[in-house]
Amino acid sequence: MFKMVTVGFVSGLLFGAVVQGRAEPGVQSGDAARGKALFVRHCTGCHGPEGGGDGYSFFRGPDPANLTSPSTRKKSDAELIKSIHEGKPNMPPWKTRLSEKESRDVLAYVRTIAK
Ligand code: HEC
Repeated sequence: MFKMVTVGFVSGLLFGAVVQGRAEPGVQSGDAARGKALFVRHCTGCHGPEGGGDGYSFFRGPDPANLTSPSTRKKSDAELIKSIHEGKPNMPPWKTRLSEKESRDVLAYVRTIAK
């Protein structure tokens, strides 16, 4: 039951991101200024103050992604939101800690630092 709810929640978010992407190509409805505040609070410890992946690094497993890299920029909103929600190896999932709106705000900020 829990699993079904989670899957519904995640696919709802993904669907939402796709619909928004269509309505406003290249632009999120997220607020990058709010996203920056959230990023500083939650993400810089690992991803570094500029998102360059120069925060905390791990003995084992992948180091934090450089969010300013072209490889991140090329990923779709849905992919990045999924990474943020589900987490990655060495990155905790954020879906229980960030609301849907906060996730979009953070993503909007990440888009502003991606080169
Ligand atoms: C505990 C450390 C840690 C924290 C905190 C953290 N991350 Fe990460 N993040 C990582 C690591 C490590 C990776 C790379 C995993 C890999 O390479 O498989 C990653 C990968 C990512 C990716 C995927 C990038 C790509 O190109 O696919 C995104 C997006 C991301 N993080 C966003 C965030 C956001 C937004 C926050 C704050 C809400 C955050 N991270 C907080 C460690 C962290």
